[in-house]
Amino acid sequence: MGFDTRFCISFVALCCLCLLRGIQAMDNSELRLLDDLFQEYAQKSFPRQPRTGLLYNVSLPSNFTGVEVSIVRLRRGSFLSKGANYSDFFMPPRIYSVPIFTRLDIVYSNLGNLSSYYYNVPNYTFIAPVVGFNTYGSTNTTGPIGNLSSPVTKLNLTLFGDSILVKFHSISLQQREKVKCVMFYSNGMFEMANMTLQNMCAVRDQGHFSIVEQTPPSIPLGPKEKGSATLWRWWVFGFAVGVFGLLLFGFIIIMTIRIYRMRKIGKMEKEAEKNEGLDATNVGQSKMPIATFVRTQPALEHDYFP
Ligand SMILES: *[C@@H]1O[C@H](CO)[C@@H](O)[C@H](O)[C@H]1NC(C)=O
Ligand SMILES: *[C@@H]1O[C@H](CO)[C@@H](O)[C@H](O)[C@H]1NC(C)=O
Ligand SMILES: *[C@@H]1O[C@H](CO)[C@@H](O)[C@H](O)[C@H]1NC(C)=O
Ligand SMILES: *[C@@H]1O[C@H](CO)[C@@H](O)[C@H](O)[C@H]1NC(C)=O
Ligand SMILES: *[C@@H]1O[C@H](CO)[C@@H](O)[C@H](O)[C@H]1NC(C)=O
Ligand SMILES: *[C@@H]1O[C@H](CO)[C@@H](O)[C@H](O)[C@H]1NC(C)=O
Ligand SMILES: *[C@@H]1O[C@H](CO)[C@@H](O)[C@H](O)[C@H]1NC(C)=O
Ligand SMILES: *[C@@H]1O[C@H](CO)[C@@H](O)[C@H](O)[C@H]1NC(C)=O
Ligand SMILES: *[C@@H]1O[C@H](CO)[C@@H](O)[C@H](O)[C@H]1NC(C)=O
Repeated sequence: MGFDTRFCISFVALCCLCLLRGIQAMDNSELRLLDDLFQEYAQKSFPRQPRTGLLYNVSLPSNFTGVEVSIVRLRRGSFLSKGANYSDFFMPPRIYSVPIFTRLDIVYSNLGNLSSYYYNVPNYTFIAPVVGFNTYGSTNTTGPIGNLSSPVTKLNLTLFGDSILVKFHSISLQQREKVKCVMFYSNGMFEMANMTLQNMCAVRDQGHFSIVEQTPPSIPLGPKEKGSATLWRWWVFGFAVGVFGLLLFGFIIIMTIRIYRMRKIGKMEKEAEKNEGLDATNVGQSKMPIATFVRTQPALEHDYFP
């Protein structure tokens, strides 16, 4: 009994640990990696002498078919005084970027049909692809400004003027009231807002954006975690929970049987004490009264022989 209890307690503790580890592994690092990946391919797509103010298309590996990425290099002074109007984003003047680089690179992305692979909003469905942008400091050199072992500097933006406007092409909005802008900001903030009167989204920082429509109740949370590694982790987690559940179930059943049997034996012993006349023996799992000897011996009537 004591051993079983101790075993059970340590097993529960172990499983709690497993559970905590599982939850800790769930973060949006994969999405940050995606931004880094786009930035890296974008830098590689730059010609040796990139022209400032010219939007360059970025070529991506074949597993990103349907995703569009582009990059533009701007002078910081020009960006601050005139803003930028490229891709699906209209950026007004007075966007302040730190740390200070004389030039900055803006990497634009459109996740296309992979949008719902990376992002998910509970109770809503995307009615436009997820588009986004991130800004990086640019050294005054040509070609790649960084590689994996020396990541480039991502800039922080502060808007002193109007909001940045995000356009969505070829979207027909039947019921405008049901439609919302969603913002997955790079700092991890998630927001929802009404669309502007021009059917655009007004945003205050870099990140990824889309529009969604309310759907009947369904599916789970936030930026999605995907990929075989995650799936595998969930399988292991599910398996651990299953095994734990089975063990706990078995333990409870064994305990119940033991308690039941002990009570039954106790009762029987009491009964046995009352019916003292008969001895008891174990037959299978229950006690049976037995007679040790036959009380009235059959007597042979010797006298009756003729
Ligand atoms: C960049 O890509 C877009 C969309 O795929 C295309 O319409 C445009 O012509 C491309 N621009 C260049 C310079 O290749
Ligand atoms: C495409 O492959 C790269 C590695 O080459 C990987 O990091 C990325 O997640 C893959 N993309 C998709 C959509 O599977
Ligand atoms: C996305 O669309 C492209 C064509 O535009 C297609 O080649 C690709 O397989 C699609 N990807 C997914 C995950 O549906
Ligand atoms: C931004 O550029 C588009 C064309 O690319 C143009 O139609 C639009 O008027 C421009 N917006 C502003 C505010 O300059
Ligand atoms: C950018 O913002 C992050 C958090 O929002 C902060 O940790 C970091 O120090 C900021 N960088 C600069 C250069 O201000
Ligand atoms: C920075 O770039 C400009 C033109 O792109 C060039 O004239 C200048 O010499 C460069 N400065 C340095 C320090 O490389
Ligand atoms: C990557 O960056 C490191 C450190 O700045 C540098 O030593 C290395 O040569 C770079 N590699 C490439 C392929 O540019
Ligand atoms: C958003 O739009 C809905 C319906 O169009 C309206 O009731 C609500 O007040 C709006 N919210 C804000 C913050 O403007
Ligand atoms: C989704 O909608 C259902 C019913 O309307 C609600 O109970 C649930 O809390 C919603 N889920 C989220 C994450 O808001």
